[in-house]
Amino acid sequence: MKYSELTKEELSALLETQRREYEDVAAKGYKVDIARGKPCYEQALLAADMLQGPAADQFPKAALNYGNLEGLPEVRELFAKILGLDASEIFVGGNSSLNLMYDTVQRGLQFGFGGCEPWNKTKIKFLCPVPGYDRHFGICEHFGIEMINIPMTGHGPNMDLVEAYVASDASVKGIWCIPKYSNPTGETYSDEVVERLATMPVAAKDFRIFWDNAYCVHELTDSPDKLANIMAIAKKAGTEDRIFEFTSTSKITLAGAGVACMGMSAANLKEALSHITFQTIGYDKVNQYRHLVYLKDPEHIAEIMDKQRAIIAPKFAAIIDAFERNFGDDCDIAKWTNPKGGYFISLDVLEGCAKEVGRLCKAAGLTLTSAGATYPYGRDDADRNLRIAPTFTNADDLPAAIEILVASVKLACVAKLAEERA
Ligand SMILES: Cc1ncc(COP(=O)(O)O)c(C=O)c1O
Repeated sequence: MKYSELTKEELSALLETQRREYEDVAAKGYKVDIARGKPCYEQALLAADMLQGPAADQFPKAALNYGNLEGLPEVRELFAKILGLDASEIFVGGNSSLNLMYDTVQRGLQFGFGGCEPWNKTKIKFLCPVPGYDRHFGICEHFGIEMINIPMTGHGPNMDLVEAYVASDASVKGIWCIPKYSNPTGETYSDEVVERLATMPVAAKDFRIFWDNAYCVHELTDSPDKLANIMAIAKKAGTEDRIFEFTSTSKITLAGAGVACMGMSAANLKEALSHITFQTIGYDKVNQYRHLVYLKDPEHIAEIMDKQRAIIAPKFAAIIDAFERNFGDDCDIAKWTNPKGGYFISLDVLEGCAKEVGRLCKAAGLTLTSAGATYPYGRDDADRNLRIAPTFTNADDLPAAIEILVASVKLACVAKLAEERA
């Protein structure tokens, strides 16, 4: 149905129906949370074996002492295979890739990169593909880095805009990228986008790409998206110092108790270590080794991810199916993504309605990521985007979440159209 083509009378009749539907749903007293991209308990239990072993005397001595600031060599090798890098380019950190990103931005601000002056000497800017990950934007906001919105296109950020900014403005020092199954749109950067990012002329010698490959092995279908290897392209172009790549096992093993890593050029690694050496004598190598024994190799990781997928893919499917049934067929109040991997569905509702949808959902017992959170400064000027995180909710609660969400979208959008027509 095209809601915008309804007459004033049709809209006011529909508004009454939607109000009743919403009130009926709200009266059921549900309590559901689809706000954060957290794995569910069943997913966490898949890693139970990892928590059982190995026995103390099975750990290599290197894992049981200070040292190996870059991480255990075998763990560096494993991450290198996952990311298509060389083990010498991998730094293995603690439990959080976000932590590594924060520290990297802070090093840029405090010390600068590659002999350039520290970023905090002047006002600097980051490009922020939108909608995007609120915690990336949070890092910038926390440090007072100005953020510039770059619209996503379905195959990565709008590169004409990116190239224009980085070529003309030396105060643009960074860009946030989630190149595979992006948070929240689920899109994967095309080969052309990756190539352009790696090779584009930049005004700032110390411009850096924060390549957050959080969802590199997180498939929801049998036909994975293929992401080009940005570091390989950058090496050919001589721009490898531009790339800081990140990933972690937060959504392979245990969120909050995984292992994170960073991939970078030899020069960048040397520089990073020269600062990190003052920060810690070494990260938790016991956890690194536990992960190595459990994960084994990329093939075994793929098997683990198949088990993860068996738990979460039906949750994505249930939501997509409900959207298709309720908002399919040329409907003009909701558009959504159907991701082949990652953790999110991005829902765009009628302009000016996202906040109201959030408010209605909350009042009926459903917690969503706050409307606006997918934009820098929490400002979605079109008030349109909502991020849906299907994984955490248990399958029994999902129908309630869907019922509330659908009723709220319909009520908010029909009310807006009726008001405009009044
Ligand atoms: C794109 C992206 N990067 C990083 C993270 C956090 O990763 P970590 O647990 O390694 O800090 C998330 C978590 O939702 C994410 O969506």
